[in-house]
Amino acid sequence: MSLPGFIARRRSIRAFRADRIDRQLLDDLVEAACLAPAPHHSRPWRFVVVDTDDAKRALAAGMGAKWRADLAGDRVDPARINELVDASHVKLTSAPALVVGCLTWDGLDRYPDEARQRAEWGMALLSLGAAVENFMLAAADAGLASCWVAAPIFCPEEARDALALPDEWLPHALVLVGYPDPAYVARERPAVPLDELRATR
Ligand SMILES: Cc1cc2nc3c(=O)[nH]c(=O)nc-3n(C[C@H](O)[C@H](O)[C@H](O)COP(=O)(O)O)c2cc1C
Repeated sequence: MSLPGFIARRRSIRAFRADRIDRQLLDDLVEAACLAPAPHHSRPWRFVVVDTDDAKRALAAGMGAKWRADLAGDRVDPARINELVDASHVKLTSAPALVVGCLTWDGLDRYPDEARQRAEWGMALLSLGAAVENFMLAAADAGLASCWVAAPIFCPEEARDALALPDEWLPHALVLVGYPDPAYVARERPAVPLDELRATR
């Protein structure tokens, strides 16, 4: 299959068979992630493979507590808060593996001013996105399903502490991984409206 065809075949799959994923295979996927381009030849990412029940529960609880507080601050109805946070807990704890992508300042430049410091962090974040896409494409190539979950970017410290990670590892991305539930049907993907999304000069 051509590479563009393969890229088009990767879909976000949110339902998995219960089978565990071999740790070596997960390591191979993380290695593919770490071949992503990054600023200054750095590797400002750290990946955490979370495939034990205790760690999944701790992560889901840590992030869930922060989300619950945020939703309460938004004055969301308490019953709705329970529904949302409970569904998220089930989603995270029922996936065979979670792979958490963290950012660090390792290898990044430091600037005295806030604007360039923010741009530097932004570059690292872009490269984490490239690494996560590598991970998901490599997962698809291995017959695995995956889905990116945004949650840690809203609560990096809580996610870090829930997993007892070093202070400087800040979770910013999470990927659910597993063998696909054959009954799951991916949402219809609209055609790319190229004329709206691309300009030429
Ligand atoms: C940064 C980012 C955050 C995302 N967060 C979530 C999420 O929290 N929950 C979820 O179900 N999907 C999440 N997704 C997956 C998107 O919904 C999905 O990529 C999009 O609908 C396109 O579908 P496709 O990946 O099958 O092409 C996220 C994707 C990205 C890139």
